[in-house]
Amino acid sequence: MTNNICCVGAGYVGGPTMAVIADFCPDKLVTVVDINEERIKAWNDSDLRNLPVFEPGLEDIIRRVRNRNLFFSVDVKKGIEQADIIFISVNTPIKEKGIGAGQTSDLRWVESCARQIKTYSKGHTIVVEKSTLPVKTAQTIKSILDGVVKDINNFGSKKTFSVLSNPEFLAEGTAIKDLECPDRVLIGGDDNDAINCLVGIYSKWINKEKVLTTDLWSSELSKLISNAFLAQRISSINTISALCEATGAKIKDVSLAVGMDRRIGKYFLNSGPGFGGSCFKKDISNLVYISNHYGLFEVAEYWQKVLDINSWQQSRFVELIVKTMFSTISSKTIAILGFSFKANTNDTRESPAIYICKKLIEEGAFLKIYDPKVKCSQIKKDLSSDNKTVEEEKWLYSDSIYETFNNADAALFLTEWDEFESLNWEEISKKMRRPSWVFDTRSIVNMEDVKKSGINIWQVGYGN
Ligand code: UDX
Ligand code: UDX
Repeated sequence: MTNNICCVGAGYVGGPTMAVIADFCPDKLVTVVDINEERIKAWNDSDLRNLPVFEPGLEDIIRRVRNRNLFFSVDVKKGIEQADIIFISVNTPIKEKGIGAGQTSDLRWVESCARQIKTYSKGHTIVVEKSTLPVKTAQTIKSILDGVVKDINNFGSKKTFSVLSNPEFLAEGTAIKDLECPDRVLIGGDDNDAINCLVGIYSKWINKEKVLTTDLWSSELSKLISNAFLAQRISSINTISALCEATGAKIKDVSLAVGMDRRIGKYFLNSGPGFGGSCFKKDISNLVYISNHYGLFEVAEYWQKVLDINSWQQSRFVELIVKTMFSTISSKTIAILGFSFKANTNDTRESPAIYICKKLIEEGAFLKIYDPKVKCSQIKKDLSSDNKTVEEEKWLYSDSIYETFNNADAALFLTEWDEFESLNWEEISKKMRRPSWVFDTRSIVNMEDVKKSGINIWQVGYGN
């Protein structure tokens, strides 16, 4: 029986996942460790508004379980020593340099985490890979942990390990709901005792029928493919948004009609500025990389197209904005509404807003950026490239939504925050410079209200 759980990595995945496990398993001691002191300090902040991750419902759980059976610490060694089950939840970004740069994941943190586990663990330890990883990473972890490892804390007896894959399927913004009521829990491995132990934890709140067990590789691959299929739907609908704009069909009606077919389903059919977030691009890049590696070039090309369409959608928006605003946006002010990669999160990783804002700045526009959850310091980081900060006189952070529109020539909606649905367009139209435009990449604003206020509007997937 496992009593002590440790999670290495207190990020978007590690933090919420462990909070939910601690909540449903009061008999387990759950410790989340991270090398980032600032992050751990934020997780331990008495003011719950300062938690490093914003997720609806997270604050309530943290209030209940923190310092009861959930602890956040920078003491990685102690966390590992105490645990009989360890989740690896460190970041696995796309490699920036060397072989596979831009395509495959950088596994250096997973590797160093495995080495720390090998050094500090005691007795038998179940190691669970939670981070999204390219297929066959469990083998890397296994190889590191393999061989005779003497347990110096236990009279030189041999340490043993079981490696499991237990991919996360939580989407940011709905992470707590996804963790509490998942569609499925996937556990891959070849050691039945270890698998049963993890099944035992999840079955505290999840029906056993929803827990699927497979071999390691199938589990790892299923995670990549789930994300690839979701991303593929977005690229598919985004190609159709362009066709709707050209022909006058309405994208929302098309999505609705198509999605009402139960075989297709209604989810992930919203056209927009392309998918962002830490997973989709990385996972498909990994899929392309491994397909090429195994000589499956047609497979690689097929999935590469999903990525290409995503970039194309963003660049076509920039071209459209410039063209509409009399072919120049130089010295024009554009209000940017929303910077996170989707609503209900403060995460900006791979946010379409980053590419689009950089391009608009390159074209000479001045941006006023508003987002209800993303901080100015984060936007500053995102808009700087090659260590050169984009001069701040090219953009301004706005913390009041209505102020953002002052003297703006155009307003560009990039994230589907709820508050953007019910804006007072009469008031806004008095603030903007004429002629004024709204570019709505999420079809979120009320088109009729905008038109009535005398502002020109373009919405994704709607022809003129
Ligand atoms: C997760 C998954 O783990 C990743 O594979 C997926 O692609 C994206 O989601 P996430 O929790 O979002 O990662 O990443 P992040 O918020 O960056 O958190 C990772 C944490 O691990 C960071 O706080 C980092 O400081 C910590 N870390 C990293 C360690 O504690 N030790 C290390 O050696 C490396
Ligand atoms: C995704 C997966 O959904 C989740 O299962 C996995 O574990 C991690 O990766 P996440 O990236 O947090 O989650 O968000 P998701 O809701 O999937 O959205 C990803 C991107 O697609 C966002 O930029 C979102 O705006 C975009 N999107 C989503 C669309 O453009 N249209 C849609 O219909 C749905």
